[in-house]
Amino acid sequence: MAKSLNLNRFELGVCYYPEQWPETMWADDFRRMREVGFSVIRIAEFAWTVFEPQEGTFSFDLFDRAIDLAHQHGLQVILGTPTATPPAWLTTKYPEVLNVTQAGVQYRHGERRHYNYNAPIYRELSARIVRRMAEHYGQHPAVIGWQIDNELNCETNVFYSAADNTAFREWVKAKYTTLDELNKAWGTVFWNQTFTGWEQVNLTGPTPNNSPNPHQALDEKRFISDSAISFARLQSEILREVAPDQWQTTNGLFGHLDSHKLTEENLDFFSYDSYPNFSTIFGDSGPDPLLDRKWSWNLSIARSISPKFCLMEQQSGPGGWVNRIAQPSPKPGQMRLWAYQSIGHGADMLLFFRWRTATFGTEIYWHGILNYDNRPNRRLKEAAQVGKELEVLGPVMVETRVSAKVAIVSDYDNEWDGELDLWHGPYTRQSVQAWFKVLQRRHIPVDSLYLGAATTLDDLSKYEVLIYPHGAILPEDVANKFTDYVKKGGTIVFGCRTGYKNVNGHCRMTPMPGPVADLCGVTVEDFTRIENIETAPLLKWRGNKSANSGPTLVAEGFNDILQTTSPESEILAEYAGNFYEGAPALVRHHSGKGQTYYYGAVFNPEVAEALVEEIGLTSPTAEWLELPQAVELIVRERTQREGEIAMVLNYSENIQTLNLNRAATNLLTGTTIKGKVELAPFDVIFLELAEPGRNS
Ligand code: GAL
Repeated sequence: MAKSLNLNRFELGVCYYPEQWPETMWADDFRRMREVGFSVIRIAEFAWTVFEPQEGTFSFDLFDRAIDLAHQHGLQVILGTPTATPPAWLTTKYPEVLNVTQAGVQYRHGERRHYNYNAPIYRELSARIVRRMAEHYGQHPAVIGWQIDNELNCETNVFYSAADNTAFREWVKAKYTTLDELNKAWGTVFWNQTFTGWEQVNLTGPTPNNSPNPHQALDEKRFISDSAISFARLQSEILREVAPDQWQTTNGLFGHLDSHKLTEENLDFFSYDSYPNFSTIFGDSGPDPLLDRKWSWNLSIARSISPKFCLMEQQSGPGGWVNRIAQPSPKPGQMRLWAYQSIGHGADMLLFFRWRTATFGTEIYWHGILNYDNRPNRRLKEAAQVGKELEVLGPVMVETRVSAKVAIVSDYDNEWDGELDLWHGPYTRQSVQAWFKVLQRRHIPVDSLYLGAATTLDDLSKYEVLIYPHGAILPEDVANKFTDYVKKGGTIVFGCRTGYKNVNGHCRMTPMPGPVADLCGVTVEDFTRIENIETAPLLKWRGNKSANSGPTLVAEGFNDILQTTSPESEILAEYAGNFYEGAPALVRHHSGKGQTYYYGAVFNPEVAEALVEEIGLTSPTAEWLELPQAVELIVRERTQREGEIAMVLNYSENIQTLNLNRAATNLLTGTTIKGKVELAPFDVIFLELAEPGRNS
């Protein structure tokens, strides 16, 4: 069972930094927070020096006063442990706690997240501050829970300090036991990298082409993830012991961290921080990008960790540091839209970041709800609107669950291996983006499903269709689960480069796609990279397929030239172009009650569209709700009775027209509507069929 937030009422709130404001402002701030409908604040995550001004001297006065005052105003409190920002006295006295770049440059005090997870003294001092805080606030009636650290692996997700190096050696020893095993796993006989003593084993270092041993590089990322998890565990064990009545979580989704394992092993539920206006800087590539709507994918990943989660930081203003990531202001309505995007995808508790914009420091342009001048503004109005609406919608959201019949499958090994390996990593990023975009635009809700040691057949069987674009590393036990899933009636779509690597990232000597070759009824006879080196061949549907009359389909990126190996294999499309003209490019294979599709190339939106048609995927609300492409559909199932809710979100600056073929209740207004309905720019509507199951 995934760890999930379990609330009986929706909680709305805001991140607040009492230590950054004159105390005379606090009461007014808390009063106004309550006025806009906030019930919870998160505080203290960067305030270590306030709590421990000198080594071993503790002071809780400031936060005692702030928490008591918040409590008097009826606010609940989430306390951050302050370990993301070590005090200056600490890094000065114990410089070994500082992180170091791969080139050997040690970070200094002045920003944040400049520490490492493995320095024994940092772990000791972190454990002490967490224990002291837990002892002090573990019984406080206002404190409902803890956020461990802040955004583990944000700012940087690589670690090369001496402490990390020592810990890595221990980690490798524990994993492989003997040097022989290690040498085998890392394939060190290649280029004479063989280790003859443990002291020779290190984290990857600078190399002539910045090209480390790939198997070592994969283990390094696994080690970084384990280090972050162990640092969180150090804190969570203390919190569990000293403050057992308060829950614990941590926030953010960052690289080189298995957030599923982190949550499973240590937390009560996961929290995510959502800043959709990053899309104005790092939008998805290609024409017609999803922009802020793409954050629905990130939220789906958060939901794959905790079906109900906390949205710990929800963007509420223009973002930007003094010298980087400068973003435009959210347009009127967008802040509310993004809040509902998060809520729709599973957040039952949401806190805006932050109450008022800082007037000093690196984030003077990372705007909160209020501006420096503290006057009421449009963003405060929007927050208040959400607060008011949640009086009606909150209970509905808490009672219902996201429902999806399709999942895009991912896993950390391929994600991490694919950062270095250009022969599959970039393909996955492209294909996931293409599939998500197409499913979004066709209003087919999609989940994210992460494969891990704990994944069961039941986890897979919740879905009718799984899309696993380029699982290069594919262990046998996962292949067996896939086989069982398909036999029971499931459908899996695979893309090129599937299954050719084992868990160490070595290439298998069996025909590709390795352990799923039989399941897919194909082998890869030959292959070539395409990218922008070669002209991509076209994809030609065999038979009388309507896909041939649609847009021209291009077999992008990489081409596996296939051969069918089973009488149950059906060649759906072939390559048109290059030396393998006419060879199978897309093969469907039936086994048991289910089927697989093996596509030899990298997915683009057009090919994903064609496959959606081929598989027969349609929107679950198609029968009663006609939707334009610019809106997102989120379907939420009732848990206490029959029925489901359709949330429709308009990400565009234009009015969008929906058509309801049946009468539905607008849950916000309580009115019954049918026929054409206009959705204003950035607006959201919550619909429930007036008479489910009956045509009206
Ligand atoms: C988050 C972080 C916050 C704040 C915010 C805006 O990543 O947790 O402390 O920095 O971004 O930049």
